[in-house]
Amino acid sequence: MTATNEQAIAGQAVYTKKVLFAYDILVLGISSSYIWKCPSKIIEQHYNRHISSNHLDVGVGTGYFLNRCQFPSSTPRIALMDMNPNSLDFVSRRIARHNPETWQQNILEKIESDIAPFDSVGVNYLFHCLPGAIEEKAVAFDHLKSVMKPGARIFGSTILQGGVKRGWAARKLMAIYNKKGIFDNTGDGVANLEAALRQRFEDVQLEVVGCVALFSARVGDEMSL
Ligand SMILES: C[S@@+](CC[C@H](N)C(=O)[O-])C[C@H]1O[C@@H](n2cnc3c(N)ncnc32)[C@H](O)[C@@H]1O
Repeated sequence: MTATNEQAIAGQAVYTKKVLFAYDILVLGISSSYIWKCPSKIIEQHYNRHISSNHLDVGVGTGYFLNRCQFPSSTPRIALMDMNPNSLDFVSRRIARHNPETWQQNILEKIESDIAPFDSVGVNYLFHCLPGAIEEKAVAFDHLKSVMKPGARIFGSTILQGGVKRGWAARKLMAIYNKKGIFDNTGDGVANLEAALRQRFEDVQLEVVGCVALFSARVGDEMSL
């Protein structure tokens, strides 16, 4: 196993059934609003702006936003992709009404499965869990492009250290999470995230709220991988 694989495993291993049970209140309720200073309502609005009826969500956690957002159609195709079977199982049950597809996948590895392409991809609160510098973890964008239609949108948010204002509690909690391997965002900043998106996509938009970057971008109409 390479070091990167070990670190990737550490980034998702924390999502046990018990942690997923408490995640919405602790992470999306308390930490997002009071420590990262980006209330979940803002992320929900981001989902509503960008989600399509042919959507892939990657790094699904508890599926809080997928469960609440408004799809443009009443019969969306939704696919869930995650390295962790607990997350896939939790969200599949939570949004069973949409009959989601599930794909177990480390997004730092090439997607080998034969998957019909999507019109939107959500990567919410995923990148700060992925190991390495932004330039390394951005390989996930390349892998995801292979399952996106021309013109499809990718969107999400991630917790940064560079180019954002971090209060005392944010600095402390990020240091603890990075030490434990739950986060790996010491090199993540607004500038390198934006550069990684611009290298791969068109129509890049990025907004900072607290220490969270909310971003969206579009695959060119002529696909080039
Ligand atoms: C912080 S949770 C995000 C949950 C959800 N998207 C949200 O916005 O609340 C991170 C999720 O990413 C998954 N994950 C972490 N590393 C991954 C990797 N290398 N490949 C695929 N999924 C990964 C974890 O299992 C977990 O479900």
